[in-house]
Amino acid sequence: MRVLGIETSCDETGVAIYDSAQGLLGDALYSQVAMHAEYGGVVPELASRDHIKRLIPLIEQVLKETNTAKNQVDAIAYTAGPGLIGALMVGAATARSIAFAWDVPAIAVHHMEGHLLAPMLEDNPPAFPFVALLVSGGHTQLVEVQGIGEYQLLGESLDDAAGEAFDKAAKMLGLDYPGGPLIAKLAMSGDRTRFKFPRPMVDRPGMDMSFSGLKTFTLNTVNKFKKEQALDDQTKADIAAAFEEAVVDTLVIKCKRALQHTKFKQLVIAGGVSANQRLRLKLQLMMEKERAVLFYARPEFCTDNGAMIAYAGTQRLLAGQSSDLTIQARPRWPMAELPAL
Ligand code: KG4
Ligand code: ZN
Repeated sequence: MRVLGIETSCDETGVAIYDSAQGLLGDALYSQVAMHAEYGGVVPELASRDHIKRLIPLIEQVLKETNTAKNQVDAIAYTAGPGLIGALMVGAATARSIAFAWDVPAIAVHHMEGHLLAPMLEDNPPAFPFVALLVSGGHTQLVEVQGIGEYQLLGESLDDAAGEAFDKAAKMLGLDYPGGPLIAKLAMSGDRTRFKFPRPMVDRPGMDMSFSGLKTFTLNTVNKFKKEQALDDQTKADIAAAFEEAVVDTLVIKCKRALQHTKFKQLVIAGGVSANQRLRLKLQLMMEKERAVLFYARPEFCTDNGAMIAYAGTQRLLAGQSSDLTIQARPRWPMAELPAL
């Protein structure tokens, strides 16, 4: 079965073709980052308009690059949520219309399920069951995964998502959007011990998290410095390093708890923040002690992409699932509502 995947939930237009027998045949991404950077964050209306401009040419490009004729596409998978409503509607309406025109089924895919399954596109994928840490710009969740669609929420951020905290802290340091990768880069030349940031909620039992306090702590540190003297480049790097270390340590502690709670020996990390090298390194160190194995996707499949949507859709289609003719776009969509395979 050959499936065309379409992702438009936020500021990235992603298209891919996944073949159930041959694997991922090809994918393409158009990132709107440069356009939104001018405004310091995603402007939803601009995102929708840009998806309209980019999506069809990107689909044509991927079909051509993978030598796929229209009549070789067996189904279309599209991100139906969660995400920005206008952006989702562009992908959903396009996908649903193409499926109708080509007389093939379409399936509405959950964006976070796409992220969660993205490591399956790599060699040596994890086997069920495992613990998943979903860390993106909109979500920070620890999930017990028994199989596709069998998700039990173990804990989540009670306020900001980890990626959102990275982006906001970056803004305070005068960095561009999206700030996560830029904080990570700056932190490499920073002293991780000069500032001591709190590790929120680690002294409380359970696997819930909170990142808004770290954001305030960053702001106070920046302001205090600005009052006393100019915020020099080294201080900026030291603050970035302290911030990154605090987020990473908090995530590592909560992941360790999730592994001990479930007694699982596999942890999958997914979503934009799972591209963070410091997080991967510190998780790896913890996992070695726990005799557990860490899985993640290649960096371009950690952030938004069409491949993960094509893959997730294919798994559900192979199990006989598909969506009706409605154009489905849901800004909010709890993963627990997804049916099991
Ligand atoms: O999964 P994603 O592409 O989009 C959402 O579904 O939200 O995640 C984007 C988020 C942004 O907040 C971005 O700053 C963060 O992932 N991010 C990172 C890194 N790369 C992306 N955060 C920390 N370190 C990184 N290397
Ligand atoms: Zn995402």
